[in-house]
Amino acid sequence: MINETKQNNQKRIFSGIQPTGNLHLGNYLGAIKNWVNLQKEIPSIFSIVDLHAITVPQDPVKLKASTYEVTAAIIAAGIDINRSILFNQSSVKEHAELAWIFNCVCRIGWLNRMTQFKEKAGKNREKATVGLYGYPVLMAADILLYKATHVPVGDDQKQHIELARDIASAFNSMFKNQSEEDFFCLPEPQILGPATRVMSLRDGKKKMSKSDISDASRINLTDTKEQISNKIKKAKTDPLPLPETVNELQSRPEALNLLNIYSALSSQPITKTLEQFTGKGFSYFKPMLVELAVETLSPISSEMRVLLKDTKEIDKILKIGEEKARNIAQPILKDVKSLLGFIN
Ligand code: TYM
Repeated sequence: MINETKQNNQKRIFSGIQPTGNLHLGNYLGAIKNWVNLQKEIPSIFSIVDLHAITVPQDPVKLKASTYEVTAAIIAAGIDINRSILFNQSSVKEHAELAWIFNCVCRIGWLNRMTQFKEKAGKNREKATVGLYGYPVLMAADILLYKATHVPVGDDQKQHIELARDIASAFNSMFKNQSEEDFFCLPEPQILGPATRVMSLRDGKKKMSKSDISDASRINLTDTKEQISNKIKKAKTDPLPLPETVNELQSRPEALNLLNIYSALSSQPITKTLEQFTGKGFSYFKPMLVELAVETLSPISSEMRVLLKDTKEIDKILKIGEEKARNIAQPILKDVKSLLGFIN
């Protein structure tokens, strides 16, 4: 018997972040800052996706510490735990269960197109885990387990959300309920703001990433004022003054990146930032960017340090989130199982 879990006209956000190492400015501007704004309008669920983290080898001690740090960072950045649901993915086993079901819907050809797997597995494809290959299927399960309608992410996750839509469509046509309605709605990626793809401070053609061996390539949310200042001052640029139009920045990736970062931090379009700095050189612009970055990130890192002093409190917060998440997930999974013909 199918329960009434269909809420196609009800908006819901789901998004996640991996607890692997320090969060950086890309994670903040591409994802968390948008989560903080969107949670005010749409009921939201955010997860620290530890099941995703283990698709590449992890040190268990570091994974645990990182899970606390990322939870603290998300709260310190402004996720309201009384309004939104925040939990660690592995505590709601329904994610893994739905991922298995979707493994039996998703086609190998669809996964073969995933560019992130190709980048992450690199030349060592044969040695990559099956988990890393199937990672986008788990991501689809994360989203659809809550029938989420909106998925705020950075640009690098767009292809994975398209796959989630393909899986939802395939499931819908394979399994119909009595009223012949689609079971899943198709989730929309929300790729918002001027910094959807923050680039490395050392190379404007490379994405800012936790896994870059050079710490100078990224600004971590835990960096001190001095570290932020040094990294921005040393960031690669060019000798030209800042232009009038965005078009003129197309061949200047490092300049474009820094201007996008400034725009996102000040919540204004890049055209406004250009108006502010046209004709000025980087020796003028960089100190302004340092000031803005420190002003935004320092309160987050100090609040993070306070929260991390009491990991028992973080445990409690995650536990509450886990229960709320499971209450939404369980009836949806039950319906999925009924549609498949499972006795449950
Ligand atoms: P992850 O942990 O790599 O990154 C978390 C979020 O940060 C964004 N991001 C960036 N945005 C702009 N510029 C950058 N340089 C940058 N680097 C990272 C990512 O786009 C992401 O939004 N697979 C996901 C986590 C995930 C998920 C989900 C997301 C698992 N299940 C379901 C949405 C819905 C990931 O590895 O993100």
